[in-house]
Amino acid sequence: MDIKQIDKEYIANTYARFDLQLVKGKGSFVYDENGKEYIDLGTGIAVNAFGVGDSAWKEAVINQLDKIQHTSNLYYSEPCALLAQTLCKRTGMKKVFFSNSGAEANECAIKAGRKYGETKKGKDYYTIVTLKNSFHGRTITTLSATGQDVFHEHFTPMTGGFVFAQANDIDDVKTLVKNNKCCAVMIELVQGEGGVTALDKTYVQELEKFTKEEDLLLIVDEVQTGNGRTGSLYAYMEYGITPDVVTTAKGLGGGLPIGATMLGDKAASLFTPGLNGSTFGGNPVCAAGALSVIERIDERLLAEVKEKSAYIFNELKGAKGVKSVSGLGLMIGIECEKDAGEIIARCQKRGVLVIKAKHKLRLLPALNIPMDVLKKAIEIIKEECER
Ligand SMILES: Cc1ncc(COP(=O)(O)O)c(C=O)c1O
Repeated sequence: MDIKQIDKEYIANTYARFDLQLVKGKGSFVYDENGKEYIDLGTGIAVNAFGVGDSAWKEAVINQLDKIQHTSNLYYSEPCALLAQTLCKRTGMKKVFFSNSGAEANECAIKAGRKYGETKKGKDYYTIVTLKNSFHGRTITTLSATGQDVFHEHFTPMTGGFVFAQANDIDDVKTLVKNNKCCAVMIELVQGEGGVTALDKTYVQELEKFTKEEDLLLIVDEVQTGNGRTGSLYAYMEYGITPDVVTTAKGLGGGLPIGATMLGDKAASLFTPGLNGSTFGGNPVCAAGALSVIERIDERLLAEVKEKSAYIFNELKGAKGVKSVSGLGLMIGIECEKDAGEIIARCQKRGVLVIKAKHKLRLLPALNIPMDVLKKAIEIIKEECER
């Protein structure tokens, strides 16, 4: 069976795949159909937080599968309730809406923003300021929120009600809020798809102050940065701010699809029955796996994430062939002198899987990648950047 050929024939042509089929894995190692081993620094784009086949996660998922795989949101469900409770206790948020993906979590946050504007100021106050170079998802509305024209091509008309500010320029946000009837500001703290660049701390803190003064919701999209990825449970904790809404997905599920929109004090009572919903949202199997992930992102693990991050920055900053290293925690972008695609292909040949963000290499290893495995992979990346 030629899986690659079948894929090409039958799967919608939306992905430019690497010429590689992954069939199994364990921890930070994955294997192709010929048994070749790779160190995985992509983790399914920041999804497999504890690597492949993590035993505690598997146990939680299988235990739940043995009980019931799905209930619908017409009934109470233990994993879903306990996950929401744990998320709220760990973040100080007050309520959680569960969905299946990052885009869906952001759709809910956008609804929260619009409902907040309507409630506090009137129906016209629906505009949301997002940042240029952002990425918020692939649905028409989250694409509309995405501040990159290239994603809007072919799909116009986009959903109205989004204006775009230059990142790290507080005056730009202030001008946009002055000239539009706004309800919220929505940001990624590290623009992932946009090239792994972290926002300035002072800017983010000014933004928090400004949104409070103007009574706007501050929505932080932590779909990629969340769940330990940046060295804190959520990246906003690194920035010393308290957002009104936090969205997340990816690593939360540890490999199964789940999205979460966490609502703080200002947003907690915006939703009433019927205003949002999702058939699969908070699915008990996904929620049980997510609970196992969140419970194990503790201070010790977060300290390890920071230590490994520092190691990567130290090794690669100023290395031959490396122009710059950016990001936070284990979400790292490497700008190389040579073409990123070629370096990625050579790393792949040598058994290291790295992905791309714009023109950079992007590293998103498992939070628990063993140090010796990480060192081996970084050595290969370094050599390939230099070559
Ligand atoms: C910051 C951010 N928001 C939203 C999304 C969309 O998430 P999903 O693909 O799960 O819909 C992504 C995906 O890369 C993301 O990085």
